[in-house]
Amino acid sequence: MIPLIRGVRDIFPPDSDLWRHIKNEAENLFQDFGFSEILIPIMEKTELFKRSIGEQTDIVEKEMYTFADRDGESATLRPEATASIARAYISHKMYAEDPIRKFYTIGPMFRRERPQKGRYRQFYQIDAEIFGQSSPYADARLIIMLKTLMDRLQIKGTTLHINSLGCFKCRPDFNNSFKNFLIKISDNLCQNCQKRANTNPLRVLDCKNKFCAEVTKNAPKISEFLCQECKEHFETVCETLKDTNIEFQINSRLVRGLDYYTKTAFEIQTDALGAQNAIAGGGRYDGLVKLLGGPDTPAVGFAIGFDRLAEIIASNNINYAQKPEIFIAALGKKCIKEAFLWMSALNTAGIKTETEFSEKSLKSLMRRAGKIGASNVIIIGDQELEKKEALFRDMNTKEQIEIKFDNPVKNIMEILSKKINRKKG
Ligand code: HAM
Repeated sequence: MIPLIRGVRDIFPPDSDLWRHIKNEAENLFQDFGFSEILIPIMEKTELFKRSIGEQTDIVEKEMYTFADRDGESATLRPEATASIARAYISHKMYAEDPIRKFYTIGPMFRRERPQKGRYRQFYQIDAEIFGQSSPYADARLIIMLKTLMDRLQIKGTTLHINSLGCFKCRPDFNNSFKNFLIKISDNLCQNCQKRANTNPLRVLDCKNKFCAEVTKNAPKISEFLCQECKEHFETVCETLKDTNIEFQINSRLVRGLDYYTKTAFEIQTDALGAQNAIAGGGRYDGLVKLLGGPDTPAVGFAIGFDRLAEIIASNNINYAQKPEIFIAALGKKCIKEAFLWMSALNTAGIKTETEFSEKSLKSLMRRAGKIGASNVIIIGDQELEKKEALFRDMNTKEQIEIKFDNPVKNIMEILSKKINRKKG
């Protein structure tokens, strides 16, 4: 057997049934909020991620799957989706027709992190982005959409953390003050932070080392340096969340692990997953489109960790498998042939139907129907074949009726719709 590469996994039933459920809920929600799907490549030029996420971030420094393509060009498996969506927005000049675009994408991302529960090297994200809206209401709307998805999926016990990271005008003032603070405590920082203290001080707040967290406890806060515009923007986001009854915590240490953020940054955290406590994260990135060569375009977005979301929901032990509506129990060769034709016609008509292709006793066929959770069984034996009438049994009520062989799809559809109407009534 050839084992899997470390940190990657197969998702199969019943997990894949749950994943389909989550994907359906997310896509329905995105439709409700007017988002369109965008499909982006799995790999991009390395430069895209270096420039967007930032050269001095953990993702770019340590975690990217980068390789020289056969023509020598450096390619990278996407570690996230935002950079690619911004690149697509620019390369197709989407802004020319309508600068306001709302996109979502769902798919695998790749980061070479140390694998553990909730952290994988191939993981999946549900990502949503808004381009062309600078208003704080766009930030609030995205957060409301994210919380609505959590509610629809019945995810409980989460906390929304929110912060403002300032803009290009006010962030340098914070950076200077923070740098001065860091110089004084430099000896107590980890090696990585000592390096970053000078080049990219914000990343020090992101360090997972608990000593770095401890010694920066009394560091200056970004909120003390926000310009009037950033302050008002953040206040409006917070007020709107309050007005829509969304609970949140202002977390002045929340800086997120990617360099492109400006103004609002947020994260949904949970206690349910041990060390990997972030289910989703996002924020505003007003400078990215311009940085990548496009027009000055504000943008805001988030990404949910699909694997983490699924792990939380899986603990509720709900079965999301799609069960067959009908199982055809066919006794003997001739009946199997008839059953096969019925099954094909029913499948084509959109009715989930299964049968068994090998000769088995009625008892073992009924056991099979029970095992796959069929709601109804149609029995076709020699007698039924001769009479040209099959037996239809409701597995719940144990009621039985006979159905004629002529036009079985129509006959079965009538029975099923009567059952649905009876349930409704
Ligand atoms: P991120 O915080 O790097 O943000 O990732 C978003 C979410 O992806 C995390 O909160 C986590 O749930 C999940 N995630 C990240 N790494 C892993 C991993 N190794 N294994 C499992 N799950 C993981 C972004 O990626 C930004 N692009 C979000 C964004 C969109 N900002 C604006 N627009």
